[in-house]
Amino acid sequence: EVASTYDGAVRIAVIGGTGLQQLPHFTRVASIETTTPWGTPSSPITILHHPSPSNGEPIPIAFISRHGLHHELAPHEVPARANIAALRKLGVRTIIAFSAVGSLQEEFKPRDFLVPDQVIDRTKGIRPFTFFEGGMVGHVGFADPFDESLAKVVRKCGHTLQGDGVVLHDRGTLICMEGPQFSTRAESNLYRSWGAHVINMSALPEAKLAKEAEIGYVMICMATDYDCWRGHEDVNVEMVMAHMRANSTNARHFVSAVLDELSKSEHTDLVAAKHLEGMMKGAGSIT
Ligand code: ADE
Repeated sequence: EVASTYDGAVRIAVIGGTGLQQLPHFTRVASIETTTPWGTPSSPITILHHPSPSNGEPIPIAFISRHGLHHELAPHEVPARANIAALRKLGVRTIIAFSAVGSLQEEFKPRDFLVPDQVIDRTKGIRPFTFFEGGMVGHVGFADPFDESLAKVVRKCGHTLQGDGVVLHDRGTLICMEGPQFSTRAESNLYRSWGAHVINMSALPEAKLAKEAEIGYVMICMATDYDCWRGHEDVNVEMVMAHMRANSTNARHFVSAVLDELSKSEHTDLVAAKHLEGMMKGAGSIT
């Protein structure tokens, strides 16, 4: 059995989505069951030890399974505030989030990866979406929802795996819809007319909350279907799962390569989110 606490700060976290419910190739050193003023996280937070490629020193990585250990949480049930607050409490300043997405463009093929740089919010306002309420007022900029410095590192890692069958698109606009039902054909076509590239149900409010918590956040998306605009085969859960399963090795390699890179000492400031410090001037802190 692994420990239930972890001494020392953990700077990097991975939030796993559908099909990436764990990272089996890492050494599990702790499994932390914690609660926050915003509730209990989706899953216990696993602390994994990742050997630094520079000197072999173990780097701790926190891992949360967004939909629970057994995929029991629908997208609108994910306790995003608890997840982000619990990670922040551990010291996390960098999040690599993973998500299956539907493709809204022919050239983003199922099993291709994409690191989005923009998001359009099509959630319905029913998910608790801010830490700033009840007397604590704050307005964060969200013009660039994802951390560009972090995204650069992630893209570089994706490119190094290109020979091994990883196809990576460097940019794109992600629609985050409410779900849990998939989109209508009219909606799917509307999103295409807006110039959006991919669609999921998970990026928000996660990315907003990370911004409020001054945590660098980037999402790695993997396409699993063409939603329902293309007229061939409409998206269904089996299709999403089958592509995730078939490409899970690539997904794990991608995440491992990113963790390898971020574990290098040259990225210490990035991982500590030095560039985000003071963004919340004037607002209270969630920690
Ligand atoms: N996740 C994976 N495929 C999706 C789709 N077509 N729409 C919304 N979320 C998805």
